[in-house]
Amino acid sequence: MPHMFSDVRSFRHDPLSFLLARGNSNPMGLQRLHLGPAPVFLVTDPALIRPILKAPEDEIGKGRLIKKLTPVFGQSSLMLHGDEHKRRRAVLHKHMARGNVERYLPQMCAEIRAVGARLAKLGTFDPHDFTAALALRTICIAVFGRQVISHGDEEALVQAVGMIEDDLADDMFRVMPIGPWGWLRRKRRRGFAKLAMSTVVERLRSGANQTSALKDLEDLGLSNQELHDEILTLLLAGHHTTGTTAAWVLYHMAADRDLMDAIADEAESCTGSHGELRVDDVRKAERSLALVKEVCRLYPGAWWFSREVLKTTTVGNQTVKAGTSLLICPWQLQRDPRLWDAPNEFSLNRKYTSDAYIPFGAGPRTCAGMGVAMLELQLLALEIAASYRFAGVTPNPAPWPKASVTLIPPPMSISISLRQTSRTLSVA
Ligand code: HEM
Repeated sequence: MPHMFSDVRSFRHDPLSFLLARGNSNPMGLQRLHLGPAPVFLVTDPALIRPILKAPEDEIGKGRLIKKLTPVFGQSSLMLHGDEHKRRRAVLHKHMARGNVERYLPQMCAEIRAVGARLAKLGTFDPHDFTAALALRTICIAVFGRQVISHGDEEALVQAVGMIEDDLADDMFRVMPIGPWGWLRRKRRRGFAKLAMSTVVERLRSGANQTSALKDLEDLGLSNQELHDEILTLLLAGHHTTGTTAAWVLYHMAADRDLMDAIADEAESCTGSHGELRVDDVRKAERSLALVKEVCRLYPGAWWFSREVLKTTTVGNQTVKAGTSLLICPWQLQRDPRLWDAPNEFSLNRKYTSDAYIPFGAGPRTCAGMGVAMLELQLLALEIAASYRFAGVTPNPAPWPKASVTLIPPPMSISISLRQTSRTLSVA
């Protein structure tokens, strides 16, 4: 019988390799992980995932791991349950589902073009230095109905998030509680970051459009504090997940010249006479969509999430006791060699119908910002390929990500130059 802490060392040392090794080498089902006294199972059978994620929330809920985030997220849709959760999700759906967020396409494209111009000026860039801020700006458009964030506030927010993110990542991999001094230091840092974020959120609120997600949330009668928590949650849940994924999108475009050219052709076919991407054509743009989907398979921004069994239940054919944590790991599922051919290779010819493809989760708690993220990532590929060429990228082949709250790309460098197209020639 393994010791209750026997997996702690390998897990903390390299969680990505540990989860792949444990998930991919044992029979599919529930894999017991020995990470402490509380039982934890890694769910490796895709057929079990949706039933778990769709189970009644009083049987299998978000549980104690998500509760650790309450001091940061407060009472927002990430934390709530039942009718209040449904009410808020309905508003988010109205503004953020793919078909609805498309109304902001021109503004989203304008933000991407501004980033492109900055990259071209640099000549060589690390994509991850730019993509988190771009994601933040996009979420602001989706929440406030227009661009409301200044560069100063953007920087303040990115910095404040960075301050608490390391602590969140440490919490995720921590098995033993931190000591009193560490706790005090962390509390102070969190307080400082929250103050900075609150100041920015208040400024953003004052600039919102009359027909925005924010106004509809206000119409639900939420208190000032609840509105504040909801906005902060959207900014935090969305900007680093989308930001890191966007960096991987640019990386794979840079690593494959033919792919980038093919996406440039696709962009051309989606572009109207004024040089703007057209919504109807972007919907049919299969190549850029396949690129984004494959990047989400290889580098799922939320690379794990969990549920807690609240009433003893049966999962598959196994009885699982109340208090058990179920770890769902898109990183492992989406690279399982039993489910995917050449799972570590980037390929645009895959079918994603399998239950094993869940980068945005599933069931009633599916990512509220999926439409925003997918549209932003696709527009990023189309806009950048339409106007620029990438001459080379290092390191090549693709490096292993660093496991933090998201899958962070290690330092990389891409060379960029202007593409001579009808669009760039007409600008010149
Ligand atoms: C590539 C980018 C993204 C990825 C991979 C991602 C992934 C996920 C996943 C897997 C979940 C479900 C977690 C669970 O079931 O426990 C989730 C939830 C959530 N996401 Fe995202 N997300 C992304 C972008 C965004 C964006 C842009 C926003 C906001 C505009 C956002 C807001 C949220 C919220 C509010 C929830 C909680 C939903 C609920 O519990 O009802 N996400 N996300």
